Parts: sequence; C-alpha cells; structure tokens
Amino acid sequence: MEIAKLLRSRGGPLIAPSLLAADFARLGDEVRRIEAAGADMLHIDVMDGRFVPNITVGPTVIERLRKNTGLPFDVHLMIEDPDRYIGDFVRAGADFITVHAEACPHLHRTITRIAEAGAEPSVALNPATSAVMVEEVIGMVGMVLVMTVNPGFGGQKLISACRHKIASLKEWIEEDGCATLIQVDGGVTAGNIGGLYKEGVEAFVAGSSVFGSADASAAIISLKSSCHSAWGGSNLH
Ligand code: DX5
Ligand code: ZN
Repeated sequence: MEIAKLLRSRGGPLIAPSLLAADFARLGDEVRRIEAAGADMLHIDVMDGRFVPNITVGPTVIERLRKNTGLPFDVHLMIEDPDRYIGDFVRAGADFITVHAEACPHLHRTITRIAEAGAEPSVALNPATSAVMVEEVIGMVGMVLVMTVNPGFGGQKLISACRHKIASLKEWIEEDGCATLIQVDGGVTAGNIGGLYKEGVEAFVAGSSVFGSADASAAIISLKSSCHSAWGGSNLH
C-alpha cells in the first residue's frame, strides 16, 4: 500500500490522465507534457482484443515510457488471464497493476502475485459487476477502480448508475482502516467530477478531458477546482 498511502497523503483529488487519449506518434513528449501539467499518475490502458474489443500497448511501450517520466504508472490490464503477464509489466515499470475482477477467477491469488512481484495491486469493476466482488480483498489492494463506462474505448459518456458502488466501497475501506483509494475511469469531466469527489472518489482517470486538451495544465486545474468547489471551497474530505 506504499504508493496508495503516498498519493493519499497529498490530499485532494488525484488526476490520472489516460494515455489512450494521447498522440501515439509522440508518446514520450506527451508523457512529459502531462507530468509538467501537474498529473498525479499516468494511467496506461492495456487491451488485448479479447477481454475488450480493442488492442493497445504492451510491456515494451511501457518500459520505453518509464525512462521519460517519474510519474507513478497505473497499468490497467483489460486482458484475459492477466496472471501470465504480471512479471512482464512489473519489469516494465508498473507501480500499480489493475486487473479486472471479471478476468480473475482466483482474484485473491492474482492480487497476491502482483504484490509478490513488487507492484501495488488494484482491482477494476465493470459497470455490471457488483462492488461485493472486492469486499473480501479490499484491504489487500491499493486501489479499487470503478469503471464508469464499458471498457475498450475512450471518449464515452459516464454511466451514472455505476456510482452507487462508491458508498459501499467507502464503508468497507473505513471499516477495514486500510489506505485503499477509490478511483473512477470513464467519461470524467469538469462537469461531473465534483459530485464523484463528494461521494468519496479520490482518484480520477481522465483521458479525453486532459490528454485531449491542448492546455493540459488548465484541464487538470479545472478538474481539481471543480472538486474543491463541490466541497464549498474546501479540499478536505
Ligand atoms: C476505457 C479506458 C479508459 C479511457 C478513459 O476502456 O479504461 O481509461 O481511456 O477515457 P475517457 O476519460 O475519455 O473516458
Ligand atoms: Zn482505463
């Protein structure tokens, strides 16, 4: 839980721009741009064309990017049988490895393997998956990622019905006393982030709304200030 604790100690919302919305012809520059703009971590979407209908990047690209930035890497694995690749992604420089509960029949074992390999485990839940799927392992993971779109593509609209999971997760984290962060992914904008922050989300994946913006710094400031104004100007929660 070291990275989750460190990130949480910064206070306020954490913004994780998703590489999926970057210019793939200039990835190194894009990552440096986003770091200079004030991102808290880099969200990297790995898709295999099987668990989701799209295909993106693998460990080689992540390893090359690692040399371009000091940002923590949250590697979101939208792949079948993620256990096969844990070692490769840890060696490539992943800090968090996020696996989908739907892709892991032995989730406890997968989480344990990620931690033993030297990364911080995190679990993602598709819109149709109940929060109960992570209840038993909540204290073992650095993050729970609530998908607010069906994974596979950037630029989709947030599915509001996914939000009710946040309250359950928050309750279990408080009961356990763990440092697990609640993160959302998909369709996050300056217009909806404030409400999510108020409900207990601490980390926000943002693809189109940050990398898709010419002024990434202004985009991050706008997301963070929407959170603060949702709390009436206070960044405490
Ligand atoms: C969707 C990915 C997301 C995506 C978010 O499958 O997991 O991380 O990049 O993009 P936006 O913020 O544009 O919805
Ligand atoms: Zn993602």
